[in-house]
Amino acid sequence: MMLLDSEQPRADALVLFGATGDLAKRKLFPALYHLERTGALDVPVIGVARSDWTDDAFCQNAHDAIIASEPHADAAVMDPLMERLDLIQGDYAEQSTWEELRATLDRHGSKNAVYYMAIPPSMFPEVARRLASVDLNHRGRIVVEKPFGRDLPSAQELNATLASVFPEERIFRIDHYLGKESVEDLLVFRFSNTLLEPIWNRRYVRSVQVTMSETIGVEGRGSFYDGVGAIRDVLQNHLLQVVALLAMEPPAGSDAQFLQDEKTKVMAAMTAIDPAHLVRGQYVGYRDEPGVETDSSVETFAAARLEIDSWRWAGVPWYVRVGKALTEPATEAVVEFHSPPRLLFDEAGGPAPDRNLVRFRLGNSDGVTFALQAKTPGPHLDSQEVDISVDFAAALGERSEAYERLLGDAIAGSPRRFARQDVVEQTWRVVQPALDEPGPVHPYFRGSWGPSEADRLLADGDHWYDPSS
Ligand code: NDP
Ligand code: BG6
Repeated sequence: MMLLDSEQPRADALVLFGATGDLAKRKLFPALYHLERTGALDVPVIGVARSDWTDDAFCQNAHDAIIASEPHADAAVMDPLMERLDLIQGDYAEQSTWEELRATLDRHGSKNAVYYMAIPPSMFPEVARRLASVDLNHRGRIVVEKPFGRDLPSAQELNATLASVFPEERIFRIDHYLGKESVEDLLVFRFSNTLLEPIWNRRYVRSVQVTMSETIGVEGRGSFYDGVGAIRDVLQNHLLQVVALLAMEPPAGSDAQFLQDEKTKVMAAMTAIDPAHLVRGQYVGYRDEPGVETDSSVETFAAARLEIDSWRWAGVPWYVRVGKALTEPATEAVVEFHSPPRLLFDEAGGPAPDRNLVRFRLGNSDGVTFALQAKTPGPHLDSQEVDISVDFAAALGERSEAYERLLGDAIAGSPRRFARQDVVEQTWRVVQPALDEPGPVHPYFRGSWGPSEADRLLADGDHWYDPSS
């Protein structure tokens, strides 16, 4: 097989730091099951964690985690997967843990492992340095979970530490939204359909909105979330990655670096959030969640109006909203087009037609809807909205989950669906004023669309398009 410039050789082992943690349980083991099922997992999987578990206990936990998401898991898949698992029990602060890891990899004949950091971010630098202490940094790549830093300076500092141990091309930064089929489809949809390109600019587009709404609250992650908030948790990463895919210019070619280059350029053209164009909210009851400070002013909702100062987008408002405990679980991008220059058929005094929309559903029931206008039956030349809609699961069949795709890519050596450092830094630059001058946090009720103060971000004549699942 020919590798593209930025691709790397296939890995021969997967090392899971944090193999006993929540992410491993909820996402990584189910993803490994699916990789095993499709034949894409052909390497030993070595967990490293502190818990005093035997190999049997480790396998049992992995098994239970898989059954929780795949109740009808197939023994013909499960059994070989369990055979692959190995646990190194030890603290990352103990050098003996690292000697044992190296000896285990040597025993497997590994020359090129994936080191997956499903661990608290505070430990990323230490684990990278310890890998170097046993010379394993020359034998593989690291996969770093989010959050990548807390702000621009800490993201740069973290990167400097990692870069002193691994070269950039062997640092894979996870943003699981980049592993979602529906998010990746934005690229294909935009650049494979010639009918969209001529109108995908300020001349025809009036505004763009991206909403990421969850109905769940912080769900037992209160102590983590209260140190982070919605801007750092999802706006800086998942949401701005979606904006980049919607706004960027076509990449110069198929190599991953061309895609990253265009994302960097479009993020560089985005002006940093004006704190006057930011509204933060907190759901009523958040302060009673376990692990949350009783006087917390951390946001569980954030809305902002962004600008991209480029030839394509100058003057077009980009409205973004993220929040927990909202009305619907959805991630949706709505591109709203200008009204026609003149209404030809308004003599009868009927209602003005609604504007055309393209709505991308990126979460549940993913797909796309074109909202167009058609004649209302009857004597008058009035119009009403008709939707041309496609549900991707029905049209295209079931697709793989994000973590399955990303773990598979990490093993295969494909960096395309990971975040490059310069893009990450640009996204921190954009949100930095919101972190420095966050302003008040407005209360909102669970099950609402967040605080009504978010309406003040909208230009005259604009309104929020609420997703419906
Ligand atoms: P957990 O706290 O549940 O798990 C942390 C893991 O790290 C455990 O396996 C723990 O081992 C291990 N660990 C911690 N300190 C040490 C140490 N000194 N020596 C050896 N092992 C250690 O965290 P999560 O799984 O929730 O999160 C992991 C990463 O994934 C974080 O970066 C998080 O931000 C990210 N993430 C998590 C998501 C989630 O839904 N959970 C979603 C998106 C990203 P042990 O328990 O055995 O001590
Ligand atoms: C994670 C955030 O990165 O994304 C969580 O830390 C959030 O707070 C989750 O719930 C949402 O992911 P998804 O795929 O369910 O939209």
